[in-house]
Amino acid sequence: MFGDHAVNPPVVLAPMAGITNVAFRRLCREQGGGVYVCEMITTRALVERIPKTLKMIAFAEDEGFRSLQLYGVDPDVTAAAVRMVGEDNLADHIDLNFGCPVPKVTRRGGGSALPWRRRLFGRIVSQAVAAAKPFGIPLTIKMRKGIDDDHLTYVEAGLAAQEAGVTAVALHARTAEQRYSGQADWDAIATLKQALDVPVLGNGDIWEGSDALRMVEHTGCDGVVVGRGCLGRPWLFADLEAAFTQGADYRPVLPTLGEVSKIIARHAQLLVEALEDERHGCADFRKHVAWYLKGFPVGGELRRSLAMISSLAELDDLLAKLDPAVPFPVEALGQPRGRVNAPGKVSLPHGWLDSRDDETVPEGAETDDSGG
Ligand SMILES: Cc1cc2nc3c(=O)[nH]c(=O)nc-3n(C[C@H](O)[C@H](O)[C@H](O)COP(=O)(O)O)c2cc1C
Repeated sequence: MFGDHAVNPPVVLAPMAGITNVAFRRLCREQGGGVYVCEMITTRALVERIPKTLKMIAFAEDEGFRSLQLYGVDPDVTAAAVRMVGEDNLADHIDLNFGCPVPKVTRRGGGSALPWRRRLFGRIVSQAVAAAKPFGIPLTIKMRKGIDDDHLTYVEAGLAAQEAGVTAVALHARTAEQRYSGQADWDAIATLKQALDVPVLGNGDIWEGSDALRMVEHTGCDGVVVGRGCLGRPWLFADLEAAFTQGADYRPVLPTLGEVSKIIARHAQLLVEALEDERHGCADFRKHVAWYLKGFPVGGELRRSLAMISSLAELDDLLAKLDPAVPFPVEALGQPRGRVNAPGKVSLPHGWLDSRDDETVPEGAETDDSGG
C-alpha cells in the first residue's frame, strides 16, 4: 500500500487539520496498528520554511512510519516540497491532498476543485512522484469523487495518478458540493477499486470497527481511512484492530467516564508538551471536549467550563467533578461526530469548468486554510 511498508491492520488515521498532531497521533497509535497521518502541510509554506509550518511536522521518536500530507497547486512548488521532505528526512510517506472543499480554497482552484483541471493535476502528481523516487518515499493521493454529481473526476484522476506512479489512492466518497453532509457513496469506492490496479483506500463514514469491515466487504478496498469517527475516541483504533483480527464478533472498547477522564487529561498534557506552552496546549484541547463527552450525562455548565480551560490544574479540578462510574453511552455508538455540515454550491474560479485542459497554476490557492 505504501511501498514496502506493510500496513496491518489496513487502517489509516485520516489527516485532519488542527487535530492529527503528534499528541493526538500518540493517543491513537497506542490503541492499535495502522498508519497515522500528520496534519496537512502547505507546500509553499514548507519550501519557504515558515517556522510555524516546520514546527507542525513533528513526529515522536517511536513513530516508525512518519506519514505526512502535503497540499499544493503548483507542480514545481509541490516537487520542491517533496524534495525537501526527502533531503531533510522529514517523513517516510507523502500523501497529496486533493479533497479540500473549503470555499476559500476551491474559489481559487485548489483542493477538490483541482482534479477537474486534469493536465495540471497530472503534472502535480507526476512531478511529486518523480521528486519522491530518489528518496524511496512512497507517494499517495487523497481525493473526493469530484466537484459535484455532474463533474465527477475520481476514476479519471485515479487512473492518472496510477499512471504517474502513486503507490495507493484514497477516496473520500463524497463530492465537494456535499462537504460532510449525507452519506459517503461506498459504491464509488467499489467502482474505483475495479478501475485501478494500485491499492485503493476507502474513506467516509466509518464510525465503528464493524463499519470498516462492511466497507471492505462492500467495496473490495484494500484499506480504510478513518477521520471523524475517532474524534474524542482514540480507542476506536483498538476496535478497528480487533475487528480486522477477530471479525465482526469483536467486543468494542466501552470506557467508563472515569477512564475517558484519564484520556482527556493525558490528551491535554500531551498537547501542552507538543506545543511547549500550557495555555496554548489547553486552548488547543478545548475543541475536543464535546467529542469526548458525547452521549455522557454531563451538565451544560461543566461542559462549558471544560471547553474553556486554560491550565492543566483547572482541567484536573473540573474532571474531578465527573462521576467516574458512569458507563459508556452505547447509544452514541455508530453515530456521526465532528463536522456534518450541509451541502453547498462549490465556489470556483470564473470559467473553471469550461477548460479542463488549462494548465495555468491557480494563484492564491495555497492558504493556511485546510480540510478535506
Ligand atoms: C476537522 C477536519 C479536518 C480535516 N482536515 C483534512 C486535511 O487536512 N486533509 C485531508 O485530506 N482531509 C481532511 N479532512 C477530511 C478527512 O481526512 C476525511 O476525508 C473526512 O473527514 C471523511 O472521513 P470520515 O467520514 O471518516 O470523517 C478533515 C476533516 C475534518 C473533520
